[in-house]
Amino acid sequence: MDFVLFVTLAALITSSATAGPVLSARQHEPQGRIGSVLGKAYSVDFDRWPYGRYSSEAASADFGDVSGWDADRTIISGGRLRGELEPGKIGGAGGTLARINVVRGTEYEMQYTVNFHSQFQWSRGGKLGWGFGIGDGAGGCTKADGDGASLRLMWYTDDNARTYFRPYLYYAAMPGRCGDSFGLRYPPMEESLKVSTNYVIYMYVRSNTGQNKDGWAVIKVNGVTLLDTPVQWTDNNAKRSITNLVFHNFRGGSQDYWASDRVGYIYYDNFSVKRFG
Ligand SMILES: *[C@@H]1O[C@H](CO)[C@@H](O)[C@H](O)[C@H]1NC(C)=O
Repeated sequence: MDFVLFVTLAALITSSATAGPVLSARQHEPQGRIGSVLGKAYSVDFDRWPYGRYSSEAASADFGDVSGWDADRTIISGGRLRGELEPGKIGGAGGTLARINVVRGTEYEMQYTVNFHSQFQWSRGGKLGWGFGIGDGAGGCTKADGDGASLRLMWYTDDNARTYFRPYLYYAAMPGRCGDSFGLRYPPMEESLKVSTNYVIYMYVRSNTGQNKDGWAVIKVNGVTLLDTPVQWTDNNAKRSITNLVFHNFRGGSQDYWASDRVGYIYYDNFSVKRFG
């Protein structure tokens, strides 16, 4: 599609989405806090929402204790959540960085589907989807200090123009300032991610004890193991709990070349999370 037409259509759709009543007819009971019932799946599929802006209130109704939800950059389209990445911007300025407090636990798993819009420009990469925060959390290329950690996913384009998913972990004694990818990628060498394709993301996290490397992290994509490793997330028991989920949808990286000159959309669906401990 012609780029100008594409942008114009996107703007029209966005403005019409804000005009009508979006939630009124579809209000529903909040589900409560994620992790409340041990071993029971907490699921969100977005199907009950009509087309339109996905407000902070809607996100709270679906996910519970949500903060930082950017309603301007999230809509419901065809029963899926669509996150918007603004042109020419990186980080929170052009996307979404939200936090969902969950019942403190020591073992969680989660699954959801990601799908890049047909016109998506990969640029250098960014953070996407839901991830886990442990203790005080960690991110932003500040080395984890033992009180917080995180497990997230990135998409990344290398110098050979191959784009792939990478693990992105912050944990005690991590090697660098920025998140650790463990040198892993999906799909394997010579292949790239595709637009308009569903990728099922699975994540598992288990807290460590004290200063022991007895925690765990797993990421699978379409059932294929991307990461499966013991981890020492934190260095004291007071901070070992899994405390939150993040919902991150942004380009970057901190340098301008992570940006794209086009608006980008990523679709999310079939979110499900479960606490085991
Ligand atoms: C979500 O789950 C439903 C029901 O299993 C399935 O029909 C649909 O294709 C899934 N959508 C995505 C995007 O994964």
